[in-house]
Amino acid sequence: MNLIFLGPPGAGKGTQAQRLEKEAGARQLSTGDMLREAVASGSEIGRRAKAIMDKGELVSDEVVIGIVGERLGQERQGFILDGFPRTVAQAEALDRLLAEKKLKLDRVVEFAVDDEALVDRLSGRFNCKSCGAMYHDRHKRPKVAGLCDRCGGREFLRRPDDNPETIRTRLAAYARQTAPLLPYYRGKGLLLTVDGMADIAQVAGLIDRALGQKG
Ligand code: AP5
Repeated sequence: MNLIFLGPPGAGKGTQAQRLEKEAGARQLSTGDMLREAVASGSEIGRRAKAIMDKGELVSDEVVIGIVGERLGQERQGFILDGFPRTVAQAEALDRLLAEKKLKLDRVVEFAVDDEALVDRLSGRFNCKSCGAMYHDRHKRPKVAGLCDRCGGREFLRRPDDNPETIRTRLAAYARQTAPLLPYYRGKGLLLTVDGMADIAQVAGLIDRALGQKG
């Protein structure tokens, strides 16, 4: 199944994409992760992207479309686009890429979450340094404190853009540049909205039922 997960920063896109990748085999394609890899590699694209990401603004359409174009189409059991597209120009470019690669989009899943909850989720988020598994100070702690459930790693990281000022900019960017994608995909009959305010397990159940995978 080929999916887009759409929603504001902290809505739970990455959490649910990681879960579906593990359970259903669909590949998570996160443009945020790809850009952070470019930053870590010290490449020219990474250096330019870092300054923009640190401010909470969007990296240029051209750069992001180029990165996705290189990756898309190598998945055997479908993909979950997480954090892409984020502008109407990116959505139109994705339509062209899918047509070129003879791929079809099955669903666009929107995560609906209040701004207040988003700030709480982003402020408490941390990831395993080795495997990227996602945790939260209160909503999703490792089963054994200080040890990653997935790989046993002992080091964790917090994202530099998860600070109050940058979170505000990211939420504003979502409202201004990404929310217009909701009518875009509704018009194509692909949009499916889930209540992202429920807890992590409940959201998983809502997504699975909506996609017709379980229950
Ligand atoms: P990106 O990495 O895509 O970040 P984002 O969209 O801001 O989304 P997040 O990863 O912050 O949130 P999420 O929805 O995945 O939530 P998560 O599951 O982690 O982008 C970063 C930057 O890169 C952008 O600002 C931009 O500069 C650039 N960029 C990326 N893509 C781009 C593009 N296409 N175009 C241009 N620029 C681009 O959950 C958050 C926390 O909440 C976790 O701790 C989790 O454990 C917890 N949680 C999850 N679900 C629940 C729940 N149901 N209840 C309680 N807690 C929960």
